[in-house]
Amino acid sequence: MENVWDYPYVMLENIGQYVGKKVVIKGWLRKMRSSGKILFLQMRDGTSTIQAVVVKAEIPEEEFQVAKKLTQESSFEIVGLVREESRSACGYELSVEHLRLISGSVDYPITPKEHGVDFLMDVRHLWLRSMRQHAILRIRAEIMRSICEWLDGNGFLRVDSPILTPSACEGTSTLFETDYFDDKAYLTQSGQLYGEASAMAFGKIYCFGPTFRAEKSKTRRHLTEFWMVEPEMAFTDLDGCLEVQEQMISHVVANVLKNRQPELKTLGRDLAKLECIKAPFPRLSYDEAVELLQKAGQEFTWGDDFGAPHETIIGQSFDRPVFVHHYPCSCKAFYMKPEPDRPEVCRSADLLAPEGYGEITGGSQRIDDLALLESRIKENGLPLEAYQWYLDLRRYGSVPHSGFGLGIERTVAWICGIEHVREAIPYARTMGRLNP
Ligand code: 4AD
Ligand code: MG
Repeated sequence: MENVWDYPYVMLENIGQYVGKKVVIKGWLRKMRSSGKILFLQMRDGTSTIQAVVVKAEIPEEEFQVAKKLTQESSFEIVGLVREESRSACGYELSVEHLRLISGSVDYPITPKEHGVDFLMDVRHLWLRSMRQHAILRIRAEIMRSICEWLDGNGFLRVDSPILTPSACEGTSTLFETDYFDDKAYLTQSGQLYGEASAMAFGKIYCFGPTFRAEKSKTRRHLTEFWMVEPEMAFTDLDGCLEVQEQMISHVVANVLKNRQPELKTLGRDLAKLECIKAPFPRLSYDEAVELLQKAGQEFTWGDDFGAPHETIIGQSFDRPVFVHHYPCSCKAFYMKPEPDRPEVCRSADLLAPEGYGEITGGSQRIDDLALLESRIKENGLPLEAYQWYLDLRRYGSVPHSGFGLGIERTVAWICGIEHVREAIPYARTMGRLNP
């Protein structure tokens, strides 16, 4: 080759197709080990990491001097020969023939020593380059892709809901307010109300986007900005809604197991805990859940909402996610349909993940009767005018319908087996953090 830099530019995830060939790789230095005349560069390109071996005698001297001075996270490119190497994690190694610095990196703040999480969150824009964050965010992408794949393949149309809204969906205490010209607007807490309108237009739909809650909670499960997928189905009751959830989630877990083995390994995830996630999921009424808690020695009064410790106890009693259904109306949102024969409870269900991860979905059958919905809006102290468009859905061909919202970050945290949702989203927003 006339110009050595004309060899094909290859991404490391595809390196296996180039064994015995020369390629160009562009990336960053994770770290370097040196034995004087040989340099071992851990090079990452975003898709994977490989060891690139630089032998002093085998590359031009000035290029060897450049290689020797590479610092952590310098960007550089190489021409190298791809070799199979059974001792390497990726199965391959590169013999470097040429090397060029692209740009240096001085005093990279994340060193191989241990750092506290607060510091790492302060440098989240750099922390994303680490192996662990790669594993988590690749699994997140697989989860989101698999959700869409399942819904698209099962008759759901993606119809997104707006982010700027004039009214509340999930109570007024967690609204982020913003000026909207001469008016006020709120960041959406849930796309559901618009999802219901879309379902009346298209039958089965889902919206998928960021949602916002001014949560004053500093727990490992709460973000102020999180992503939610919200399917909504016309002519579907609560049972039908639960079946969709268990099918969709089983599909997602199976895909992660199939397509993201190396990432699960990086995270040290216990695979047996995921392999048993198969539909059907157990169903427990709220009444039965209260009994379970009381038997476990918890003081709990019928009518209260579950807190995180309660959800943990219930979730840990099963090896797969468990639906808790028919909560008291008093602890649920205004739009949930009361059970006709027992109006103090509603056709609602939360799905609690195993291993103490708590609620990952919330859903219900919706009130389809105009008068009842009007009175529930008033009882909840919400302004009736703002919901006139929503009430139209009960004025013009109302039908039984149901839906749910699945929180992406909690699902990612559970499937990855990580402690806290802040690592399950690229740039976490919490009560105490808006940066970077
Ligand atoms: O249970 P939630 O509040 O339900 C709704 O918003 C319904 N409108 C959804 C629907 O029926 N279309 O929220 C749904 C899910 C929760 O189960 C949880 O996984 C996630 O959203 N979630 C949060 N995730 C991270 N941080 C928060 N502050 C969250 N609040 C809810
Ligand atoms: Mg909920």
